[in-house]
Amino acid sequence: MKRTLLLFVGAMALGGCDDMALQPKQKAYFPLAGPAEVPSGTAEFREMPVEVPPVTMALLERGQERFRIYCTPCHSELGDGRGMVVQRGFPPPPSYHIERLREAPVQHFYDVITNGHGIMYSYANRVQPRDRWAIAAYIRALQRSQNGKVADLTPTERGALQ
Ligand code: HEC
Repeated sequence: MKRTLLLFVGAMALGGCDDMALQPKQKAYFPLAGPAEVPSGTAEFREMPVEVPPVTMALLERGQERFRIYCTPCHSELGDGRGMVVQRGFPPPPSYHIERLREAPVQHFYDVITNGHGIMYSYANRVQPRDRWAIAAYIRALQRSQNGKVADLTPTERGALQ
């Protein structure tokens, strides 16, 4: 009795396998006629341009977080170019607080992250476009934090200083 049951189960299992083996299906592999063509104008996903995001607190916080991960080793938390790697002998980057960089458009920071600059290598494969804008906005905020003038404040803010 037991043996018949085993045989029966075995036959069912084999039958199942055979059905699957014989089913019509798409062959997983078929040779291509030649190398696949990339349609012209195609950009890699990470290089798809993104709209410049509006500067919000959330964007700045994201920028600060990413900046701390990728940029502080050389540029330092302050952006003065005296990060830990530099203290250990890496050539120092310029401070973000020099006049030329204070006057540079935010786009310049985005471009430096994308393409690198001089001996600084590109971060394009580590920092996605939206995060580049977040870091760029954060650098601008860092610059403002070091070079703010009373004249930049609104009258109400000035009043709060007294
Ligand atoms: C391994 C060290 C290192 C790291 C990490 C690094 N940088 Fe730099 N960065 C440099 C150096 C060195 C220079 C100066 C390059 C030169 O002029 O040859 C520089 C220059 C710059 C400049 C100034 C470009 C100019 O116009 O003079 C900006 C802006 C900048 N980096 C942004 C960033 C940002 C944003 C990050 C993080 C995503 C980052 N860097 C990460 C080393 C680094």
